[in-house]
Order: sequence, then C-alpha cells, then structure tokens
Amino acid sequence: MSSCLKCINCGSKYPLHEIIYTCRICNDLLEVEPDFQELAKRIEKNGWKRRPISVWKYKEFLPISDESKIVTLNEGGTNLHKCNNLAKELKLKGLYVKNEGENPTGSFKDRGMTVGVTKALELNAKTVVCASTGNTSASLAAYAAKAGIRCVVFIPSRKIALGKLAQTMIHGAKVVAVRGGFDVALEMVVEASKRFGLYLLNSINPFRIEGQKTAAFEVCDQLGWRPPDRIILPVGNAGNISAYWKGLRELHDLGIIGSMPKMTGIQASGASPIAAAIMKGDEAIKPVKKPETIATAIRIGNPVSWKRALKAIRESKGTAEIATDREIISAQRLLARKEGIFVEPASAASIAGLRKLIKKGEVDHNESVICVATGHGLKDPETAMKACRKVVEIEPSLGALENELRGSRLLNAYA
Ligand code: F0G
Repeated sequence: MSSCLKCINCGSKYPLHEIIYTCRICNDLLEVEPDFQELAKRIEKNGWKRRPISVWKYKEFLPISDESKIVTLNEGGTNLHKCNNLAKELKLKGLYVKNEGENPTGSFKDRGMTVGVTKALELNAKTVVCASTGNTSASLAAYAAKAGIRCVVFIPSRKIALGKLAQTMIHGAKVVAVRGGFDVALEMVVEASKRFGLYLLNSINPFRIEGQKTAAFEVCDQLGWRPPDRIILPVGNAGNISAYWKGLRELHDLGIIGSMPKMTGIQASGASPIAAAIMKGDEAIKPVKKPETIATAIRIGNPVSWKRALKAIRESKGTAEIATDREIISAQRLLARKEGIFVEPASAASIAGLRKLIKKGEVDHNESVICVATGHGLKDPETAMKACRKVVEIEPSLGALENELRGSRLLNAYA
C-alpha cells in the first residue's frame, strides 16, 4: 500500500493527487496516511539526520514528489530557547520556548504553506484561497507571490492585527473582509473553493498539516531525540496541535522517539470550546457563537479540527486550560521582560496557561516543558503598546532628562 489520504472518521481512502478536502462518505477531515514500510526504507538510506534543521530536512516524511519544484522561503529551523529566567520565576525545572515567530513571515504558518503551495503547483493550481485571522493569510500571500500564482484571502472584518493585514496586502493578495467572524469566513471559503475552482489552503487541507508536523520533529531533534514531558500550544482552529501530535506519532511508530509528551492546549476564555470539552469530559465540543478575545489569531468559536485536538490531548494524557485576556497580556509582558522574546497575544496564551496549570498543581515542578510561541509580537503592535506605559516626552535639555531618570530611579549604572 502506498501513502494516501484517509478519512479521520470512517477510514475511506483517496489518492494523494485527488483535489479533495473532506470525505465523500461522511464529510469528515482527511489526513495523509504514510506508508510506514516505504518511509522506514527511505529514511534509513538517506542520512537525513545530518542535514541542517529546516522543514525540508524531513522531506522523506512529506508527501511531495521528488520531481516537484519546492516553493520555499527557508522556513523552519526556528530556535528552541532555554528560558532559565522564566523557569526560575515559575519554579519549573526545564522550560523552553519554540519561537515560531522566527519563520519568514513571522509565524508557524510558513511550515504548512511551503508544503501546501508546493502541492498547489504540483496540482497545477493557479489561484489559492484561504480564510484567516491574519497569519495564514500573510503566509499564503507570501508563498503565492514566490510561486507566481494568484491569491485570495477572506478575513473577519476589522478583527485582524495590523501587521498581518499589511503583510497580506504588500504581497499582492486580493483581500476580502467578511462581515462576521472567522468561522463564517471559513464556511464561505470552503464553498467558494468548490464552486469557483480555487485551491483551498486552510488547515482542512491535509498538506498544510504535513508541513506543520515538522515543528514537532524539530523540537525532538533539538533535544537530541528525547522529547520533553509536555508541549503547550495555543489552540484556535486546532490544526497545529493536531499536526504536532501526528508528527510525534510518526516518530514514535518509527522508533525514533521512545516517549510521548503530554499535549496541552490553551484557549482564550472567550473562545474556548475545546478547553471546555476537555474540562467537562465531553465527547464533542459545543461551538461558541460569538467568540471574543484580544488574541485575535485564536478568536474562533467552531474549530474544524476539534476531533483531532480532543484525541491528541486525551491520547497523550495531556490537558487543556483557558486564559483570560488579562492573563494573556500579562504573560506576553512577562516573556518579553524575562527572556527578550516578543510574541503576539495568541502565542502568550501558552505561557499564561502554563502559569495557571503550575498554580493548580496540574503541571509538576519537575517537568520539562516546551511552550510554542506561534507568532511574532510585531504582528500586533497596537495591542502590545496598550499594555505598556506611555512614552514620556521632554524638552531637549539634560536637566529635564536627569529629572525623568531620577524619578524612575535610573541614574548611575554602577551603583
Ligand atoms: N497562534 C497564532 C499566532 C495563530 O495565528 C493561530 C491560528 C494559532 C495560534 C492557532 O492555531 O488554528 O492551528 O489551532 N491562526 C489561524 C490564521 C486561524 O488564520 O492565521 P490553530
């Protein structure tokens, strides 16, 4: 049997080159099912472990033909920062931040897009489309530009961060703001892709997930193939937590790692259907009608990959937590001030959630934890500035400066 697309619900199979996003029998999501025997043979002879770290280091694990022209902006290979200052503050043994803001367009979405847009070219697509809270659109616009194909993005009207909108526009995408939230925009784009023959690159596209799973490969790789006890991620549409879990399962099935981290998902309190289902022990989520949070990237009420997220969390014996806007902003500042890492609010949710889980005793002080910082802080400068004191303005005199510095106890660097 060779690799194929497989329905996550009924197991129906489809060929990899078929343009199909959901199962024809039961309408559930599709996932790439690798041929493990073939994969094991391919990775054995290729010496992949010696290649420099990046998404394409793991090309044998990606369902892209060897002849394909790869559309790349040199994504992946982001740093795993050991955060000793923050670990000390939280009384945690080992804390790392995987800083996905270091990707070319400033978020983890580039991992999925290098694979997704490469696939789009393989399939001869000339126009790609997505709905987005901002990062997916910025990334798709950049990769479509690199590939020389057209791009249309649907965004929730007035609810995306400035930096993300600027990125999407400068790369030349057609931007359509939809009145209503992300959930409505996604529903529309799925229908539009079918009706108007556009190639859909939201995370219901299984090739996006394939690219994103490389982040899980990287963190294991960066820790010498000894996975951490826990991986904490912000969760919106739930593609990323599903991708990490898929990547980890593949490494485990191939015997490359010997243990599995506890997958821990954090949602914003105004948009937390998955965390609610985990906390209540429900089988299914109850969609949130009017999601609201300062972390606009994860302002999602009806996440498409909810089934996969519940499975990842439950199979790994992980957990979920919610963070209020206040806790998110406080965590964003804490990470910036303790570690010099500036992340956007959605990413800070993972730190906010960790803080709460330690307090509740659900995360043990002896654990080694990776928090995934999904997007760069410069994506949303307005929110960051609101969380800080105003800049002081003075007359251009040393006297005025001295007064200001004395007031803030900033005189004499050596005292
Ligand atoms: N963090 C950031 C910075 C994001 O942009 C997103 C999702 C997430 C976390 C959540 O990831 O949806 O896979 O659970 N952003 C999407 C977008 C929805 O359109 O950019 P998820």
